[in-house]
Amino acid sequence: MATYKVEVRTGDMADAGTMDNIWVTLIGTEGQSKKTKLDGWGRDFRGGSNRTYRVKTPSSLGTLLLLRLNKNPALLFSEDLWYCCSVQVCTPEGAALLFPCYRWISRGEQVELREATLFIGYKKFCFFCVAAVKAFEESHPVLKKLRQQELTEKKNLYQWRVYEEGLPHCTHFESEEDLPLELQRSQSKQSEFGQNVTAIGIELKIKGILGSQERWEELEDLRKIFWFKKTALSEYTAEHWRDDDFFGSQFLNGVNPMMIRSCKQLPPNFPVTNEMVQPFLDGGLSLQTALKKGKIFLYDAKKFEGIPPRTYNGRALHVTPGLCLLYLNSEELLKPIAIQLYQQPAEGNPIFLPSDSETDWLLAKMFIRNTDTVEHEMIQHLMNTHLLLEAFMISALRNLPTVHPIYKMLTPHFRGLLPMNIKARKLLLGPQSVADKSSLGIKGVVELMRRSLSELTYSDLCLPENISSRGLDSVPNFYYRDDGLKLWAIINSFVRAVVEHYYPSNTDVQRDSELQDWISEIFNYGFLGNMASGFPQSFSSVQEMVKFLTVVIFTSSAQHAAVNNGQYDYLSWTPNANMLLVTSPPSTKGQSNMQSVLDALPSVGDSAKFAAAAWVLSDKYSDMVPLGSYPEERFNEPALKQMIKDFQAELSDLNEAITERNTELQVPYTYLLPSQIENSIAI
Ligand code: FE2
Repeated sequence: MATYKVEVRTGDMADAGTMDNIWVTLIGTEGQSKKTKLDGWGRDFRGGSNRTYRVKTPSSLGTLLLLRLNKNPALLFSEDLWYCCSVQVCTPEGAALLFPCYRWISRGEQVELREATLFIGYKKFCFFCVAAVKAFEESHPVLKKLRQQELTEKKNLYQWRVYEEGLPHCTHFESEEDLPLELQRSQSKQSEFGQNVTAIGIELKIKGILGSQERWEELEDLRKIFWFKKTALSEYTAEHWRDDDFFGSQFLNGVNPMMIRSCKQLPPNFPVTNEMVQPFLDGGLSLQTALKKGKIFLYDAKKFEGIPPRTYNGRALHVTPGLCLLYLNSEELLKPIAIQLYQQPAEGNPIFLPSDSETDWLLAKMFIRNTDTVEHEMIQHLMNTHLLLEAFMISALRNLPTVHPIYKMLTPHFRGLLPMNIKARKLLLGPQSVADKSSLGIKGVVELMRRSLSELTYSDLCLPENISSRGLDSVPNFYYRDDGLKLWAIINSFVRAVVEHYYPSNTDVQRDSELQDWISEIFNYGFLGNMASGFPQSFSSVQEMVKFLTVVIFTSSAQHAAVNNGQYDYLSWTPNANMLLVTSPPSTKGQSNMQSVLDALPSVGDSAKFAAAAWVLSDKYSDMVPLGSYPEERFNEPALKQMIKDFQAELSDLNEAITERNTELQVPYTYLLPSQIENSIAI
């Protein structure tokens, strides 16, 4: 007779425990145990409990390969989810084996756990085996078969869906309730999110703002949208939105720092002359010299040209594919010096200058901010972070078994993404959504996304290459770049340590067929097989793999924080950032006044809808997991634990340095503070 001690750890969350019955089966090289009910005195699986049971077998099972858990209903109780952290088994031979679980288990489910850390203790000797296993390292036929079976089941469970032709493919699940439980949002997130939406709705309804088609009569009235939700920066934006230096600073440190590039030569379709702009350059500097000295920058919304906008009250709206020239002055402020709202110069398409009437210049800037805001929300935020990460995730779910080292590494960076994206497709792209209410409408936004994906390159997602290719290496006061490059380096060094641990040579990378299937599906379904994009379709070296995984983790954490966390700060004040302007842009100078500015703004109800979306999408929720935290302990090897500690220490040092730097800034840049960056796109 052999006795196995089985210790079960239940999560310590409020609702982690269960009244249901749990059964265990141990499977070893020499046989398997009977399915044994884990039954002790009193309530067994209370939240935060750690209880030990005994499983008896006629003889030793040999090396333990698998542990199977079954959860069956206890009488009279309705569905009662259980969060199992781990099961530790002490064998009759003296080995202590850990089977990590870290997931919710629902009624009727059967979960098979593989051992993660083999710790055999005998007097002072101990031995650790590798916890994560690649396919070609799998030696036992039972485990090989299980691995195959898992992938077959997952490919069946997680399928690709074409949301719209020309966009990254997405999950076939269309509602959060249909998702497997372990991928759904936490109960706390669901209820906080719901309470937030309800509170916003009630406030707007009480004030008669919800759905109101009334026009704004005074700019100050916009302060009435939300009485209680203010941030230091949302207030600052409301005060400074007309200032040229605030307009310029948003291209560096606002929510969309992805657009401008250094300009050494003017585009032929933007005929700005020296006479036009010399008055705005320092000390008689000529435009030619400023261009040569690297002081001139260009915003160009060419991509919007020819996309038909939606209609509004029976008239076609206007979305201007504008060009804006910016100058970095001797005070290190970036200021706009010329704006042309359409691509082709023409009589009805003048070049606006800061010396034009206040409202002509203001309206020109507002139409530039309009395209920039649509680009930000729909491309830089939704598509380039949320939707691309979904493609990385679906491919990982389909191609990497749970024991694969890269699956273990990336899973925490996918937490909460699918329920969020299912919601985002409704809130941002569905009927009555942000896209529907925007100047482009849903059709126009989808066309913009299509064009953007076809132009997106691998370099665009690699921050060091992105910054260099835009010629922005030495622009002063560019905190997104400064903090972002440091984060990139820290993430890259963590990824390198982990990858080199599991893949000592390029051959290991090349022969990992699951890894190759993962990247191949990303290339085909995420980037639609676009060879010109430079995205990898396979990995041939450790180096290539490290770079790609850095992109995945950087995009899911830092990049998403940079384009997400400041939405309320910058987008809640509608005149500063608008998805919708309802009048024609100025086509001649000297015809506008303050009423023209008010007339251009969305209605009271639509303005509130955009501000509410900015609130909901950038709020903080109590289940936030900051970058570098791995509470699920998927890696148990000491070397990996040390790598995570080093990663966290570097992030903590950076956090201190940024906090210190921010004390000296009039407008602190907080979006890339490591403590404010979430590990995954969960909002
Ligand atoms: Fe987001």
